[in-house]
Amino acid sequence: MKLHFTLNGEARTFETAPGERLSELLRRSGMLGVKIGCSTGDCGTCTVLFDGEPVVSCLMLAAQAEGASITTVEGLSRDGKLHPLQEAFLDEGAVQCGFCIPGMLLSSFALLEENAEPYEGEIRSALSGNLCRCTGYENPVRAVKRAARAMRGEEE
Ligand code: FES
Ligand code: FES
Repeated sequence: MKLHFTLNGEARTFETAPGERLSELLRRSGMLGVKIGCSTGDCGTCTVLFDGEPVVSCLMLAAQAEGASITTVEGLSRDGKLHPLQEAFLDEGAVQCGFCIPGMLLSSFALLEENAEPYEGEIRSALSGNLCRCTGYENPVRAVKRAARAMRGEEE
């Protein structure tokens, strides 16, 4: 069956089969930043933005994306320039094995869209669905604070 949705700002048409997960469709469409960890909705590595809200794409059918706007980590950079969140994750040493990072970036992006100056607890809450086995969360939390400052135009 044919499916139409906006992927990273571009109107696209896809072929899908009943039962195909959104995570699978996105990966076979080249969005390899959508990582498959558990396929049971527990790890958050497959997080994408669905009409601006973070969702675990492994628990969604591709067909549910009809007419929606989907953002993957590939859609965060603009004109070859990393998003301030991506810069901050690098600057704070928040990327270790990297497997969880696309999901963390998208959850953080959604948070900062709603709240330009989040408290640490709000950042930790936003990242709570993204399991990370490497960082202990300290550096990612610092990275989100750093990105928030940069996006508010505050000097480092
Ligand atoms: S792969 Fe989707 S939540 Fe783990
Ligand atoms: S950086 Fe390795 S799982 Fe998070």
